[in-house]
Amino acid sequence: MSNAVYMVTGGSGFIGSHLVEKLLANGNEVYVFDTTTLDKAQNLATVKNHPGFHYCEGDIRDKASLKNFWRPEARAIFHLASVVGIKNYIADPLKLIDICVVGTKNLLEIAREHGTRILFSSTSEIFGKNPEVPWDEKCDRVLGPTSVDRWSYSTSKAVCEHMLYGIHRQCGLPFSIVRFFNVYGPRQNPYFVVSQSVYKVLRNEQPLLYDDGKMTRCFTYVEDIVEGVIEAGTNPKAVGEDFNLGNCVEVTMEEVVRTILKEANSGVGYKVFDTVKEYGERYEDIPRRVPKVEKADKLLGWKAKIQLAEGVRRSLEWARNNPWWLKDA
Ligand SMILES: NC(=O)c1ccc[n+]([C@@H]2O[C@H](COP(=O)([O-])OP(=O)(O)OC[C@H]3O[C@@H](n4cnc5c(N)ncnc54)[C@H](O)[C@@H]3O)[C@@H](O)[C@H]2O)c1
Repeated sequence: MSNAVYMVTGGSGFIGSHLVEKLLANGNEVYVFDTTTLDKAQNLATVKNHPGFHYCEGDIRDKASLKNFWRPEARAIFHLASVVGIKNYIADPLKLIDICVVGTKNLLEIAREHGTRILFSSTSEIFGKNPEVPWDEKCDRVLGPTSVDRWSYSTSKAVCEHMLYGIHRQCGLPFSIVRFFNVYGPRQNPYFVVSQSVYKVLRNEQPLLYDDGKMTRCFTYVEDIVEGVIEAGTNPKAVGEDFNLGNCVEVTMEEVVRTILKEANSGVGYKVFDTVKEYGERYEDIPRRVPKVEKADKLLGWKAKIQLAEGVRRSLEWARNNPWWLKDA
């Protein structure tokens, strides 16, 4: 795993930047491809001057620039580039579908030419609102109607997963799929429940609690996720396999917000966000989202280790030491 060349799409994003840091720390050479210009890629500030770090600004929908970027000698490509966040799918589902499906198809075609191993970052949203939690890797996908924009993300990622299985069967291209369950930690955009609450509480503002706060999630600290991603992207046992990567501890949204208020020693309380009023019919929430992770444990020896209170403490500490992140969004 060290002294190798790796490529990372979406490497200036939240998870991607942590992955890049870790790959470099392990002694590898890393080539990043992302639409963000390097001078704006604040998440990569800690690695910009590392001798093993290389950066290419580009869009995965542009096959020519992806081709120019490609390193045929790379041991694998970690494909993380995507539109992320419900607000963004609702604002522009076409852009999401275009980047996810067209971009990934471009990437797969180039990978096939060179026989490059691919790690595809998928999502727990794949399983939609299947009420039979916990979900293992092969459980059914239960989605709502196409008039509800939130399902465009699940559907786009599922199309990519189908392409990966198809191309693997056709020509043996080595791939692995990882499905993340609510990742959080330092540097995440402040639009998700943990990052938004950390951001607001440290600005002495009230975090938002969606509706009655009874929905549950399993929050997974980014350091755990990065370990799982590297293992799934490099371990020979992971080839042709899909993995749920998530923490198994289920908590309500209200508990999460309360944990953050407590760990920050803040008395600001929270504000209820009425999703029907704000998003209307184009939004639908998922009551429970819980992974089964035995497969990752058995094949890769991976398990989430960092629990919510500890992850929140680390996120708060990081945010306090990085005032740029706390500036007006
Ligand atoms: N954060 C989570 O909880 C979570 C959960 C499930 C799945 N995922 C998946 O993990 C991956 C990383 O997510 P993240 O949370 O780090 O998101 P992020 O938004 O922080 O990072 C995504 C990166 O992709 C880049 N990008 C977007 N469109 C691009 C394009 N057309 N070409 C090249 N680069 C492009 C963005 O500039 C950004 O740097 C995504 O594929 C996402 O779908 C994340």
